[in-house]
Amino acid sequence: MNKQNNCISPAKGKLAVLLPGMGAVTSTFIAGVELCKKGAGLPIGSLTQMQTIRLGKRYERRAPLIKDFIPLASLNDLVFGGWDLFPDSAYEAALKAGVLDKWQLEPVRAELAAIKPLPAVFDPAYIKNLKATHAKKGKTKWDLAQQVIADIETFKKKTGAERAIMLWCGSTEILPEPAPAHETLEAFEEGLRNNAPEIPPSMIYAYAAISLGLAYGNGAPNLSADVPALVELAEKTGAPICGKDFKTGQTLMKTTVAPMLKARMLALKGWYSTNILGNRDGEVLDDPGSFKTKEKSKMSVLDSILDPKLYPDLYGKYHHKVRIDYYPPRGDAKEGWDNIDIAGWLGMPMQIKINFLCRDSILAAPIVLDLALLLDLSKRAGLKGIQEWLSFYFKSPQCREDLTPEHDIFIQHLKLKNTLRILMGEEVLDHSGLDYYEPEKGLASSAPAPRPAKAAKIAKNGGKAGKQLASSFRLP
Ligand SMILES: NC(=O)c1ccc[n+]([C@@H]2O[C@H](COP(=O)([O-])OP(=O)(O)OC[C@H]3O[C@@H](n4cnc5c(N)ncnc54)[C@H](O)[C@@H]3O)[C@@H](O)[C@H]2O)c1
Repeated sequence: MNKQNNCISPAKGKLAVLLPGMGAVTSTFIAGVELCKKGAGLPIGSLTQMQTIRLGKRYERRAPLIKDFIPLASLNDLVFGGWDLFPDSAYEAALKAGVLDKWQLEPVRAELAAIKPLPAVFDPAYIKNLKATHAKKGKTKWDLAQQVIADIETFKKKTGAERAIMLWCGSTEILPEPAPAHETLEAFEEGLRNNAPEIPPSMIYAYAAISLGLAYGNGAPNLSADVPALVELAEKTGAPICGKDFKTGQTLMKTTVAPMLKARMLALKGWYSTNILGNRDGEVLDDPGSFKTKEKSKMSVLDSILDPKLYPDLYGKYHHKVRIDYYPPRGDAKEGWDNIDIAGWLGMPMQIKINFLCRDSILAAPIVLDLALLLDLSKRAGLKGIQEWLSFYFKSPQCREDLTPEHDIFIQHLKLKNTLRILMGEEVLDHSGLDYYEPEKGLASSAPAPRPAKAAKIAKNGGKAGKQLASSFRLP
């Protein structure tokens, strides 16, 4: 068992949550946190706030809330800041996004109106459909990075925040051409000084945060920190990083249904996915360059879960199509359709249809909250570089170059919870159940289960006594 909980420094003082991009997702997230703080809403969808974590054996009945189990920053200690291409306050951005109604925003109007974005780092080559009115000026990309670094330091001073994390919630950029500037830190810094065209704004923000040792996450499919140069920087400064692209609507469905098909060895013939959405994100994705970035992120999921090389008969030749259509009347209330052609016993065809009427930013906001808190936890636990255990939250999880990303939502969920158990010095769960019936066949590290009568006594005694008894059953 890994006793790492002593190494997590306490979540003392304020945590600055810095968000490049203050549009629909960001304003919905901040409004939600402020409403929850006033007891005017529930943080539904947030694991850190609402989910429990099972510890030890099932009969011990130990299942604290995650937020009571690990030392996380409290919602009351969060302070919000960010950058945007437009000067709208978080209140104005929330009204324009139209995710929450005006009456819902009213109780937190003052808090939202006080949050004004700083001028953004912008490059029209990377986002075609928006024209910035609130952008920084700088001769070189190096100068712009230094301005972002200064913004972060000033924000911390002004708010008295002890710690800070940065999470990209800006629009989807066109993918840059692969370039030497992405490969090493030295070449990247050289590229910043020489205005290398292959360094988009999201990489400049990531560079600024990581060079200060701040944890950095990326909610869009942009490359951002997913290049060797910035991974190298993160290792050097001790910054945890993760990405890419929040897993919300259709991909959430895909990574839930596909593992079921594979678990039951049902064949896939085709998967046709289409979406309509009408928010600013949809407008940006209407540009073929930005759509290509999103498409890449959405397409990689099935191959990785189904592993066609291992199962050529079942998954060797399926047809996969993803479409996103910008349709303004829908605003943030996206609609997704999936038609899934599958085959069963002797190849007999069957179909699954999913029609998901979701609200994009409502699904994304709790992810932003969890990532802010867990990135801060990672930093305080001394974790650095790529945080693959946070894959659960992403469509296109960043992982080591020689590994394939894990897309299966159930494995991702287990990974996340087991990491929390390890960080807190708790046993990693085996889940085989063998130790309840044939103790000698359970994991060597787990305690053999007592017989039912004794287990009932443990359960009756409650969590603490159960923990003591359970530890007396532990194998050497
Ligand atoms: N459920 C979801 O909404 C969801 C899911 C997965 C990923 N995402 C991604 O999250 C991001 C945000 O989504 P959204 O719905 O809030 O979009 P949005 O268009 O409402 O907000 C994005 C904001 O980013 C700003 N921006 C663009 N470039 C910037 C820059 N260089 N610096 C600072 N600000 C910049 C824009 O002005 C805009 O206000 C998008 O990339 C989207 O693809 C969203």
